[in-house]
Amino acid sequence: MEKLYEGKAKVLFPEGPDTLRVYFKDEATAFNAQKRGLIPGKGVVNNKVSATLFRYLEAHGVKTHFLEEVSDREMRVWRVEILPLEVILRFKAAGSFAKRYGVKEGTPLKTPLVEFSLKSDPLGDPLICPEAILALGLAAEEELSQVRTTTLKVGELLRDFFAQRGLDLVDFKLEFGKRNREILLADEISPDTMRLWDQKTGEPMDKDRFRKDLGGVEEAYQEVLRRVLRG
Ligand code: TMP
Ligand code: ASP
Repeated sequence: MEKLYEGKAKVLFPEGPDTLRVYFKDEATAFNAQKRGLIPGKGVVNNKVSATLFRYLEAHGVKTHFLEEVSDREMRVWRVEILPLEVILRFKAAGSFAKRYGVKEGTPLKTPLVEFSLKSDPLGDPLICPEAILALGLAAEEELSQVRTTTLKVGELLRDFFAQRGLDLVDFKLEFGKRNREILLADEISPDTMRLWDQKTGEPMDKDRFRKDLGGVEEAYQEVLRRVLRG
């Protein structure tokens, strides 16, 4: 079938006028695609982890683009107009935050922190403040406030979900889209878009293993899937 769009980790196929099929690839990139590689089985893990998390969030009142899993690597979703924002929620300092402010990775934050980046590969997804989002018309005030509230709610729900499975949710990235003026949680929620540390060993169990060449990348993705499906 003709693809509608191919991104770094997923391919979108048109279905009906209102829906898309998302295919999850094994290809991995980091640092704005300067680093490239393959994580065998990643597509299956990310599809199943995302589907499970979308169902869990829906069951707790979060509206998402998710409709159904259609195969090991594919899900059906509503077509949405993606807001050009990456919404990041942090519970502990890590990654770009730890580097920017010179704090040790793993330092707990006094309050969960919502950050926004402009979704733009040519610009390298720069941080953007809420005032600039409004000034540029990237989202309306009401939409931005809903995005922030939903992100904090998703953060609480996911932190509990992973804590029950021996994983510490350090931070994650969300994307939102609009369908008929309604804001839906979109994209994916997977080890590509979260930092998950094993509660016992402190070992990263997510894409940081690939970013930092820590080894055991495939195994970490499989272990996250195993714990997510344990229910
Ligand atoms: P950061 O610390 O590198 O800014 O990443 C914050 C969170 O966002 C982390 O869980 C990884 C995720 N993330 C993405 O999903 N996509 C990206 O392109 C980047 C840079 C981070
Ligand atoms: N997904 C992003 C990229 O390729 C970055 C990352 O996740 O680290 O470039």
